[in-house]
Amino acid sequence: MPVIRRKPWALPESAATDESVYRNRRTLLKALGIGPLIMAGGGVPALAAAATDPTADLYPATRNLRYRLDRPETEKKHATTYNNFYEFGSHKGIAEASQAMKLRPWEVRIDGLVEKEMTIGFDDLIRQMPLEERVYRHRCVEAWSMAVPWSGFAFKALVDFARPLGSAKYVLMETQADKETMPGLNQTWYPWPYTEGLTLAEATNELAFLATGLYGKPMPKQNGAPMRLAVPWKYGFKSIKSIVRFRFTEGRPISFWERIQAQEYGFWANVNPKVDHPRWSQATERVLGTNDRVPTLLYNGYGEFVADLYKDMKEENLFM
Ligand code: MTE
Repeated sequence: MPVIRRKPWALPESAATDESVYRNRRTLLKALGIGPLIMAGGGVPALAAAATDPTADLYPATRNLRYRLDRPETEKKHATTYNNFYEFGSHKGIAEASQAMKLRPWEVRIDGLVEKEMTIGFDDLIRQMPLEERVYRHRCVEAWSMAVPWSGFAFKALVDFARPLGSAKYVLMETQADKETMPGLNQTWYPWPYTEGLTLAEATNELAFLATGLYGKPMPKQNGAPMRLAVPWKYGFKSIKSIVRFRFTEGRPISFWERIQAQEYGFWANVNPKVDHPRWSQATERVLGTNDRVPTLLYNGYGEFVADLYKDMKEENLFM
């Protein structure tokens, strides 16, 4: 267990998104030692992929119309400027700071209980995957939400590619942890690297998606380039960004937030408006962009796809 000197997660969302912190992000970046190079561009970084992205030609991918929204898509400018990516700071204005991340070469390690452990380049991997676009809702545990078009591929395609052994029951994912480009890693009281886990049944559920793009372009750095998870029936912290490793295990992995505060951020973290966070209600959510308050739905509205996964798990703390 890490020694916790400060508890930013112990704040309600209103405090976590403090206007002055957001407005003063340039000052904060300076304090964190982010050089003038990153700030020189000014404004919010564009979504455009770097000219050096070898798989930029894969976008836009064809939209899969099976997944539909009950609300308008969130405007790009909101989804790409209001982010959680603690590796770049414990506040929402990390878009500029995250531009320091180096995306190539980007290697992905697949190991643990698989037929053959391997390290594969991201561009090699993605060219072997069936790319499509899906519009999904996203519900953060802090009670804000968005609805965005991800591009990517079904997690099941990655599992099939990895060929896990029969003994594998879970998959642990890990985010890149690069001290040179990620100032948040200086917050040594966090248990870096950021990790998350799913059961194999969850990872092979049709909804589990490895997203490599957003709004028809390669994934912006602030949203988790080059590849992040999208599991829309779970609170947003499960959707780990900038993945460098998939480890197949027999035992249940402990994820980043669970290690910090297991009573508030558990392994399952399925959305449920009737189960409050210990410090705030989960009954409604604030929609990014409009700031409308709307009711939160069980499994974030995806029960028809996922409720069966949990039908024999009454004893588990499924909604925390
Ligand atoms: N992944 C990493 N590596 N680090 C993070 O801080 N934050 C999580 C999740 N994935 C996070 C992460 C949380 S709390 C949320 S709500 C979503 O990313 C936010 O994704 P977005 O910035 O694309 O909206």
